[in-house]
Amino acid sequence: MNPGALNLSTLLDDFHRRFEAAVAHATDERALEDVRVAFLGRSGEVTTLRRGIGQLPASERPNAGKVINEAVERMERELGVAQARLENRAFDDELAQTIDVTFPSIPPATGSIHPIRTVLRDAATYFQRRGFAVVVGPEIEPEYYNFDALNIPPTHPAREGFDSFFITDSMLLRPHTSPMQIRTMQEHQPPIAIVAPGRCYRRDAVDARHLFQFNQIEGLLVAQGIHFGHLKGMLTGMCRELFGEDQRVRFRPSFFPFTEPSAEFDTTCPKCKGLADACSMCGGSGWIELGGSGMVHPNVLREVGYDPDLYTGWAFGFGIERIGLARYEIDDIRRFVESDPDFLAQLA
Ligand code: PHE
Repeated sequence: MNPGALNLSTLLDDFHRRFEAAVAHATDERALEDVRVAFLGRSGEVTTLRRGIGQLPASERPNAGKVINEAVERMERELGVAQARLENRAFDDELAQTIDVTFPSIPPATGSIHPIRTVLRDAATYFQRRGFAVVVGPEIEPEYYNFDALNIPPTHPAREGFDSFFITDSMLLRPHTSPMQIRTMQEHQPPIAIVAPGRCYRRDAVDARHLFQFNQIEGLLVAQGIHFGHLKGMLTGMCRELFGEDQRVRFRPSFFPFTEPSAEFDTTCPKCKGLADACSMCGGSGWIELGGSGMVHPNVLREVGYDPDLYTGWAFGFGIERIGLARYEIDDIRRFVESDPDFLAQLA
């Protein structure tokens, strides 16, 4: 090739055209590299071209160098583009071999509703459908709401039963949801029909059946002519809804300062269905204990300004975790607070 003999721009055009054809033919990155070496490499064609500059008339030489350099830069850019295209294609080929992009995707792992939430919601829903309002209140309460207003004066031994976490001399983490009875009645006139779900705290040593933080749901119905039969009917219905149609409920005489008469209520063990033979869930009694209940004590009604001769009412409170244990047939209450996603998803 002799740039002196031929016009430089014609030579470059020809060089460029052959370069582009070679690039277009390169089907992989190796072939592309071969093209680069053959055309633009140190002992490639471009070097021959550059050498030819010496044979040009002196006046044309500076310009010729510049023109060749510009052409080389352009070709290098084209190489870069071709390189990127080949890389993409290699990646696409690999994808096509290993991944079926039409295959349905695996859904990302999501959380599930906590079983305690489910029990709370189901219990509350049962009462909501029967016209009860759901109310929530503070977890830190003064002694007044926790005890005094509930007919538990400062020296009453029943305070011992509520082994409480005190925040100050007179403020404590509520050991039960019963303060919500007082708060509701102070704000509203009868008829009252509420359930109050929420967290409670007691200084209990943690074991398979106890947590120091747990959930209760409180129920309160106050109106004219309310009697114990209404309470039995309501709680029996709730147990049937939560556990199944053949569920039975049993009331045992008990004592709470804020109810008179008072009763603890049990339901047939959902695991052994009351057959009781060596059942691990109910300890062979055939029953599991759910909570306390009774007719609202006249002193409590008086405390909130209701006339106990005019109004009567019942109240109950039970542990949600207790229901959870029975409903899901779990033998250790701590499972509910271990945050093991596999366990929780199983119950969801
Ligand atoms: N608050 C009582 C407890 O936590 C339960 C209860 C509520 C009993 C309402 C009677 C009436 O043990």
